[in-house]
Amino acid sequence: MANPTMSKKAARRQAASEPELSLVDRDQAVLVLPVPKGRRAIEDDAFPFEDLSAIAEHESWRKEVFRPVYHMHKWWAQRLGSVFRSLVIGTFAPSGADVLDLFYRPIRVPGAVVFDPFMGSGTTLGETLKLGGRAIGRDINPVSYFAVRNALGVHPRKKVLDTFLEIEQDTAPAIRRWYESALPDGTRTQTLYYFWVKELPCPSCETPVSLFPRYVFSQNAYAKRVPEARATCPHCWAVNHIRYDAADATCSSCNRHFDPQRGPASGQKATCPCCMTEFPIAKRVRDLGYPPGHRMYAKMVLHAGGRKEYRAVDDHDRNLYAMAGEELRRRNGPYPVVPIEPGYNTNQALNYNYRHWHEFFNDRQLLVAATLCERIGRIEDEHVRDVFTCLLSGALEFNNMFASFKGEGTGAVRHMFSHHILKPERMPLEANLWGTPKSSGSFSTLFDSRLLRGIEYAENPFELRINGSDTKVYGLSAPIPRPRANNFEQFRAEGRELYLSCGDSGVTDLADGSVDAVITDPPFFDNVNYSQLADFFHVWQRHILGDVGHHASTTTRADREVQQGDPREFTDRLAAVWREAHRVLKSDGLLVFSYHHSRPEGWWSVLEALMTAGFVITASQPIKGEMSVATPKQQAKEPIDLDIILVCRKRSGQSAETNLADAEARAAAQVARLRAAKRPLSRNDVRVVLMGQVLRELSGNASVMAAERTLGAMNGELEATIDRLSADRG
Ligand SMILES: C[S@@+](CC[C@H](N)C(=O)[O-])C[C@H]1O[C@@H](n2cnc3c(N)ncnc32)[C@H](O)[C@@H]1O
Ligand SMILES: [Zn+2]
Ligand SMILES: [Zn+2]
Repeated sequence: MANPTMSKKAARRQAASEPELSLVDRDQAVLVLPVPKGRRAIEDDAFPFEDLSAIAEHESWRKEVFRPVYHMHKWWAQRLGSVFRSLVIGTFAPSGADVLDLFYRPIRVPGAVVFDPFMGSGTTLGETLKLGGRAIGRDINPVSYFAVRNALGVHPRKKVLDTFLEIEQDTAPAIRRWYESALPDGTRTQTLYYFWVKELPCPSCETPVSLFPRYVFSQNAYAKRVPEARATCPHCWAVNHIRYDAADATCSSCNRHFDPQRGPASGQKATCPCCMTEFPIAKRVRDLGYPPGHRMYAKMVLHAGGRKEYRAVDDHDRNLYAMAGEELRRRNGPYPVVPIEPGYNTNQALNYNYRHWHEFFNDRQLLVAATLCERIGRIEDEHVRDVFTCLLSGALEFNNMFASFKGEGTGAVRHMFSHHILKPERMPLEANLWGTPKSSGSFSTLFDSRLLRGIEYAENPFELRINGSDTKVYGLSAPIPRPRANNFEQFRAEGRELYLSCGDSGVTDLADGSVDAVITDPPFFDNVNYSQLADFFHVWQRHILGDVGHHASTTTRADREVQQGDPREFTDRLAAVWREAHRVLKSDGLLVFSYHHSRPEGWWSVLEALMTAGFVITASQPIKGEMSVATPKQQAKEPIDLDIILVCRKRSGQSAETNLADAEARAAAQVARLRAAKRPLSRNDVRVVLMGQVLRELSGNASVMAAERTLGAMNGELEATIDRLSADRG
């Protein structure tokens, strides 16, 4: 197991290099759990959150490898599958059961109906199906709905494989042509990556100024250990081999000197190398009125033996690119033309004059995407067409001019969403969209690493056991793929096991008292507006599949989306979903959800929404979280590693006294257990544990107003308690 003092990166690397053993555990008899009456294991103080957090932590290092079924398409804030497996088990195991032991047993909860009103990438649903339960999922976002349908669907594997080979036969030769490099010895080879840089005309002399912060464009992720790097010469654009930190270089081609560490761009400003005028970049872009242009300056080619080489671009490359543009313009409606709406996550792109989603791509990217769209659109089988639409849509994340190069020694392509806002990239990377054997993030490599791997996991799921090395334990779970019901009536009447829908979960067609548990991960009070980002994918899916059904609208934005903005609105929309959860839950049903702390106001919203909907919190369990949002500056020093699982039941009459001493005692016990398990806790982690217990106490108040009064009366007490719990590191 990883040493807790090891840096996250080092631990990840170690995990990646550990041999993967696998174990088939088919001998154990399947253990059937009937839905219990009364208290559940997840409400027990003894719920083994520290051991489950250790499993979750391992999963978090290689999520795509350990739970690939939820990663067949991009979604944001994806939760860890192992956490949701333990939530489903803890919800359906009676109080006193050993959840950690059950985690590695072939248990089934047949008949248990689980509803996730914020399904995202479908984690709750997949884990429920693996445990033999019946799953209902709903999400307001069509991109989520489409991704989950593909992830949990029954795939005709042979047809999918055959179709890939047909697509390859029909399109790959033509696509590869657009990535051809001409080598000096006259042979041709494939280009893996083209390196581009943004250029702005100097406001004084109109000379194009390239926005390199440094002329070093490729170095190793661990540069101190592997110092060899590449820099482009600002005088002749030759590729030079240098040390990553060299401050002086003589170009091997033109013999002129340059400083590889200093490009024309520095922070928010750029300096024209011709007339030395310094100008603010953002203002210059605004004045232009169109998105900045790009210069292609280097490439990486793949030689026949698999060797990679950096080279400067030549006339052949420039002509090829120009021809791709001409070809694109000969086509009729090759790509979707949809405007980008303003919003927190889109404004930065809009400020750079990106006004339409297709402007994120260069001509060659558009041409190749259009070729694939056209071919996928011709797939007759609707189901298979969906699968390949999902694959292409996901691949576009790595194949646009907002993507960049991560460097050597790591996955090469940094996808466009690494910032959570759409941040224009000064040095974009254009990858080979069809892909080569050495590519990552391409259509053909993602077919294997995402699609097939996801299908394989769905058909034959495994869990991770982490005693010393990672062991994959097969044979514990039922296969995921199930035929879907089209509506709740069919789900109920035909005893189906999966029902998915797209829309606001404040209103559903589920019958009163029809659900045993609502298990979910609601939107947090943070700045990620899923729909503003999801539109990037939506416009392409709609382009292939037609503007019908859930693809009718040009945008995935919706009035009832629960998202940050006005706290009042956030609370009301969340309360509407909790009210609906209350209606569809059986009288002894549980509402279990993870809460990710991002802003202090969020706690109050969650409590108020729960209480107005008629719930009371019966337990709060801390668990390893998966940081989904770029850490705000003020939290960087005290990062939050924990999520809180709140377990709620329908309130039945009596209110309870708020006993803060109890809350503190329970929080102290949880903090002590996490420390004993060698989990480093920041002050903010301690705060999260305490707040979970305080909320639990407050939820027993007779009304939201009474809870607010109680909280108000606590004043500085909370901070003092956090101080005490943080200081007491014994
Ligand atoms: C935090 S994400 C869930 C992530 C998920 N647990 C996963 O692992 O992928 C919250 C989801 O709620 C959805 N959502 C927001 N408002 C909604 C509403 N009113 N009804 C249904 N879904 C909504 C968002 O589209 C988003 O997918
Ligand atoms: Zn030179
Ligand atoms: Zn100038």
